[in-house]
Amino acid sequence: MRKLAAGNWKMNGTGPAIAEAEALIAAHPSAPCDILICPPATLLSRLSAAAQGSALLTGGQDCHTAASGAHTGDISAQMLKEAGASYVILGHSERRADHGETSALVAAKTRAAWENGLIAVVCVGETGAERDAGRTLDVIASQLQDSLPDGLSGANTVIAYEPVWAIGTGRIPTLEQIAEVHDFMSKTLSARFGDASGGLRLLYGGSVKPSNAAEIFAIPNLHGALVGGASLKASEFGAIVAALSAS
Ligand code: 13P
Repeated sequence: MRKLAAGNWKMNGTGPAIAEAEALIAAHPSAPCDILICPPATLLSRLSAAAQGSALLTGGQDCHTAASGAHTGDISAQMLKEAGASYVILGHSERRADHGETSALVAAKTRAAWENGLIAVVCVGETGAERDAGRTLDVIASQLQDSLPDGLSGANTVIAYEPVWAIGTGRIPTLEQIAEVHDFMSKTLSARFGDASGGLRLLYGGSVKPSNAAEIFAIPNLHGALVGGASLKASEFGAIVAALSAS
């Protein structure tokens, strides 16, 4: 299984940000892991062009369930694909919180992604209050159940465990807490999807940095990271790619 270092630029980056991706490409002409950047939609075509022929893959940060139509401000999976994307992040906690996205909607978007040949990076994760209430595994179980359609395979989907309280805060769960959730996800997904989930990659996201990457990548059932802030600088994301390559 090829591990995955995925960068989520969120709503960050204008033209000059392409130079950061170019520096990353130059530093990693090939890598034993997959390297993905999901830029703002406005940069997707330019980043995909810059990445052509390199080890860098590109993706969107969201897509609509429909192929086209009267949906002002939205982007379809087909449009992302045409702009050079091979992945799309779906159900990020910021979209669940800012845009009221439900797991049922995330499942519909996942189907749209698959129909257009995109690999869905489906995000799940508990809030701080849910963890404090001892509900973490219940929340993960229900998000996995409701956000993932039948037909999932290791080739069409990646799961990212992103505790909401660890995103952009500099706080991460203990390694034991991450390991507990990844072990739970691995068992839950194999119980539901059987052999199809064999090659499924399970990422961790939330305050991943060069300084904590190696210890996170040593956790069992963990196959890479979804990185926010630290993916914006080639030097930092490159160090995370190097840590994953060495794991
Ligand atoms: P940070 O790495 O900035 O904490 O963000 C994580 C994230 O939300 C990636 O999708």
